[in-house]
Amino acid sequence: MRKLFVLSLLVSLPWVCLSQNFLSNKQIDSIISLMSPEEKAGQMTQIDLGVIAEGGICNLVQPQALNLDKLKTAIQKYHIGSILNVGCGSGTISLESWHKIINTIFEQNKKYSHLNIPIIYGIDAIHGANYTMGATLFPQQIGQAATWNPGLVKKMYQITAYETRASGIPWNFSPVLDLGRMPLWSRFFETFGEDVYLAKQMSRVAIQGIQNNGVNGPYQVASCMKHFLGYSMPLSGKDRTPAWISDRELREYFLPSFREAINQGAKTVMINSGEINGTPVHVNHDILTTLLRDELGFKGVAVTDWEDVYKLVNIHRVAATKKEAVKMAIMAGIDMSMTPNDFEFTELLVELIKEGSIPMSRIDASVRRILNLKNEMGLFQFKKISKDLYPLFGSAEHAQQSYNLAVESMTLLKNTNNALPINSSAEKVLVCGPAANSLNLLNGAWTHTWQGLDARFNTKGKLSVVDAMKLVNAKNVTYVQGSSIDSVLDIEACIQAAKTVDKIVVCLGETPCTELPGNIDNLDLTLAQKTLVKRLKELNKPIVLVCCFNRPRIIKDIAGLADAILYAYLPGDEGGRAISDCLFGVKNPSGKLPFTYPSNQNALIHYDRKQSEDLDVDFSMNAYRPQFDFGFGLSYTQFEFSDLSVSKDTLNDFDSIVIKVNVKNVGSRAGQEVVQLYYSDLFASITPSVKKLMAFSKLAFEPNETKTVYFSIHKSDLSFVNKELQVVTESGEFDLIINNQKKRIYVN
Ligand code: BGC
Repeated sequence: MRKLFVLSLLVSLPWVCLSQNFLSNKQIDSIISLMSPEEKAGQMTQIDLGVIAEGGICNLVQPQALNLDKLKTAIQKYHIGSILNVGCGSGTISLESWHKIINTIFEQNKKYSHLNIPIIYGIDAIHGANYTMGATLFPQQIGQAATWNPGLVKKMYQITAYETRASGIPWNFSPVLDLGRMPLWSRFFETFGEDVYLAKQMSRVAIQGIQNNGVNGPYQVASCMKHFLGYSMPLSGKDRTPAWISDRELREYFLPSFREAINQGAKTVMINSGEINGTPVHVNHDILTTLLRDELGFKGVAVTDWEDVYKLVNIHRVAATKKEAVKMAIMAGIDMSMTPNDFEFTELLVELIKEGSIPMSRIDASVRRILNLKNEMGLFQFKKISKDLYPLFGSAEHAQQSYNLAVESMTLLKNTNNALPINSSAEKVLVCGPAANSLNLLNGAWTHTWQGLDARFNTKGKLSVVDAMKLVNAKNVTYVQGSSIDSVLDIEACIQAAKTVDKIVVCLGETPCTELPGNIDNLDLTLAQKTLVKRLKELNKPIVLVCCFNRPRIIKDIAGLADAILYAYLPGDEGGRAISDCLFGVKNPSGKLPFTYPSNQNALIHYDRKQSEDLDVDFSMNAYRPQFDFGFGLSYTQFEFSDLSVSKDTLNDFDSIVIKVNVKNVGSRAGQEVVQLYYSDLFASITPSVKKLMAFSKLAFEPNETKTVYFSIHKSDLSFVNKELQVVTESGEFDLIINNQKKRIYVN
């Protein structure tokens, strides 16, 4: 009877236009009123593909295929609301198989679901639709931030949304909005770097790109802000270990990118697996409800991270039983549990609902959010996925966008003795090092598999650095690996080969990894790679280092031996071409570091440090000596800054000041420069930072071209979080700084 009623609700909706005919709030309420405790608990459950596929959990038959009996159980008995990913330990899936999986889930759900509530599929499409074969793979987030080009980054997220929807999947667990303030952390490369302002700009365009003003169109998916809140700053540097972060610091540094994303209409959020100040975030009502819902006004779905409800018992030990853990997490504010390998969460939740241990109003609030999301996505009017709508999937056009982004991320950190660019027709070059001939080291984790290590899945036809360089001029390019990440290999052959060339390019790398498998005990570059560089230096030929790292590995010992250093981050499938084109000068690097590059293990100081961090042992203000500064990056041309002026020198409430500066390309080739505006608050009730980024603009210049760049600032741009946790701007003197130019203003 209930089924008939709901079916009649849904049948009255024609399937023709996905952008219309959503269910009304009343219709959603009617569905909820018909749902049993089992159906509600099921909606709040997310299982991994492994639970419904052929084979054992984490040991699936490859390629993955649905097991219809298991699927029937998941739907009919457990009423599951959501499924994720590709099965633990498994890899990427073809477009055709995705269509089969998604269409079958839909059909079976129609057949066995009592109320025919659609199942929502979610996936980690972290740097492109990385779990679909042949999808376009882009630079990882840290490289995206290094472009300082929000327009390009937005385009990348649009393409990722397109290719994720092309796979039949409407929900992307991206972007990571955690601030990259801890270089040791294994997920550093998944962040937009250390700076609040830059990360906020990137967060904004990421949400805009993924959702494209909605979540129901054929090229739109729901975003998921990860991982709320304070995940990226574990004290030990190890993933999911305790963070000690005060409420003030949480708000000053870690909250703004999430606030920005919520303002952009982000639909879902994933919770931090770790603990802050002794409380696992999954049970923290202050963060998950008071802050997220009441203060920030977030109305979407909050999903746990992987098995995090169970971890409250077996890792965090704040609950003695799983049942208690389920209750704690739900009462704190989670809506959906990424369970993900069994149905124990679902069964325990049913018990809790039936006993009345969790109020029905609390359960209904979560179920309503989940149904609202499905409704907004157009899932109640699901149409069979067809390839025809997506002619650009994995296309040359999309690859070009990935290439553009990779090129703009390339950050030239050193260039002496005309080491770069290399003249491809006149100079012979030896290319060596672990990242020289590996697509996996260019892509990092979340590439076809979780850890990104399985080369069998690599996209056919994509070029490593060596491939791309040989394509330019094979006869001038020699490749000998010389060293893997951890051990020297054919180093003598490498040295012999180096004797015959004009320049040596060493592509340094880091094993692709993320989360727990990415934990390290120190930031040093591996001995084998340093040995390779030191041995090659004995030949006294120009050495160029290309760095493809997950995080800034310490290169102090070898930076001085190198004539040039090109920092490439994890540039993705077009990274080989982008690196080659920058080395050969086809492209002019314009990336800027989105983090402070440490020179020493234990000097992990950020550019927006406090004055006390500048105080050196000799009492001079000189202790901040990073390998390379935040915002730093050279070009093959040079820029001069002059004539910084302000429209007035006093800033009042509701007022603005226009800042003007001239920038001239004084070199001989075209190039792009990022004009960065910083401020320095001279005195404040909370110790002020030495400087903070407040605006930037990336512009292209022809040789000899001068541009006047304008920024308009308001009082709120100079704010900070005070002791009472309010965002305030205190009156007093401020310095405005662009490059070597500075002006003082007074704020009333
Ligand atoms: C990660 C998340 C990811 C989830 C699903 C977790 O282990 O922390 O970022 O979205 O797995 O794969």
